[in-house]
Amino acid sequence: MKILITGNMGYIGPILTKQLRQSYPEAKLIGFDMGYFGNCITTADMLPECRVDIQYFGDMRQFPAEMLQGVDAIIHLAGISNDPIGNKFEDVTLDINYRASIKLAKKAKDLGIKSFVFASSCSMYGAADDSARTEQSPLNPLTAYAKSKVYTERDLEPLASDQFKVTCLRFSTACGWTERLRLDLVLNDFVACAIASKMITILSDGTPWRPLINVKDMVRAMDWAISRDVNNGGKFLAVNVGSSEWNYQVRDLAEAVAKAIPGTDISINKNAQPDKRSYKVNFDLFNKLAPNHRPQVDLVDSINELKNGLNALGFKDADFRDSWFMRLKVLTELQEKGLLNSKLQWINEAM
Ligand SMILES: NC(=O)c1ccc[n+]([C@@H]2O[C@H](COP(=O)([O-])OP(=O)(O)OC[C@H]3O[C@@H](n4cnc5c(N)ncnc54)[C@H](O)[C@@H]3O)[C@@H](O)[C@H]2O)c1
Repeated sequence: MKILITGNMGYIGPILTKQLRQSYPEAKLIGFDMGYFGNCITTADMLPECRVDIQYFGDMRQFPAEMLQGVDAIIHLAGISNDPIGNKFEDVTLDINYRASIKLAKKAKDLGIKSFVFASSCSMYGAADDSARTEQSPLNPLTAYAKSKVYTERDLEPLASDQFKVTCLRFSTACGWTERLRLDLVLNDFVACAIASKMITILSDGTPWRPLINVKDMVRAMDWAISRDVNNGGKFLAVNVGSSEWNYQVRDLAEAVAKAIPGTDISINKNAQPDKRSYKVNFDLFNKLAPNHRPQVDLVDSINELKNGLNALGFKDADFRDSWFMRLKVLTELQEKGLLNSKLQWINEAM
């Protein structure tokens, strides 16, 4: 088995390759990444990319089709990964996340690749009322990032066939420790706040609903998706991935972190504009299709793994929201240094 993982050098990629190494010890793993966050690493030991057999550097927008020769399955993670970057680079986000993804899927189908797994997002539900969103609920993408996921799913669906199985995993917001940690994710941010300053500042009024999932459980879902039977979910499947117990309001998350890290205060911005992004999600379909791959890690364990990891790093940076732990900050700095152009392409002359 030959598995291509795009975007393997980000937050999720390192844990995904670890999981695939265990589940498919004989498989040939190939990574493809632009390397934007190559240096954003929390380990002094082995580079996570040493786990893949071949690592390619390149841009999804100019993906070389010959790299797909002999590949059986693709897990497509590469992309602009949050709203702040998407808001600043709208066209680039649609180019990378949407157009390049569809081009990749078409080439993959032409070459007879059997399984295509797309890292989609529950953020496509946007602002919702109190009832939990199912896969049939109307979509309400509020940002370029969320729209890119909606358009990609929409155009992937007609490509799917019995020979080209497409699985769109609509992930909850990730949390947990990886070797390329992001602190621009809500729970990770709260734990970092608590450790660095004993004060969690919630940027909203704390009421938005946000389903969460530990990154270890995300990769278990991908592991399931690449080799699921086409009779289990059909040739095209878009499915919410997470668990009902993990539908939290943002202030509940802050309270759980404050409990785990004694002495932490919480500041809620009572004057904040209501955060429009708020949704509860129903995960019954995933539970039914993948009963052995339901999320296992709970909130307390997730907080503890972040706490232990950050403490082991000696993390104390109260200004981390302005540091390399934030994906937007890294890209902005690379641009300011003249290494990336306005389309987020590397500037060869500057290297
Ligand atoms: N982290 C979450 O909460 C979450 C939730 C739902 C979905 N997802 C999706 O999962 C995927 C991975 O997320 P992540 O948290 O690891 O993000 P990340 O930003 O840490 O990693 C994304 C990776 O994609 C690469 N990349 C970006 N543009 C590229 C391009 N043009 N060509 C090649 N590589 C490119 C980056 O270099 C980076 O290594 C993304 O598609 C994201 O939308 C993430």
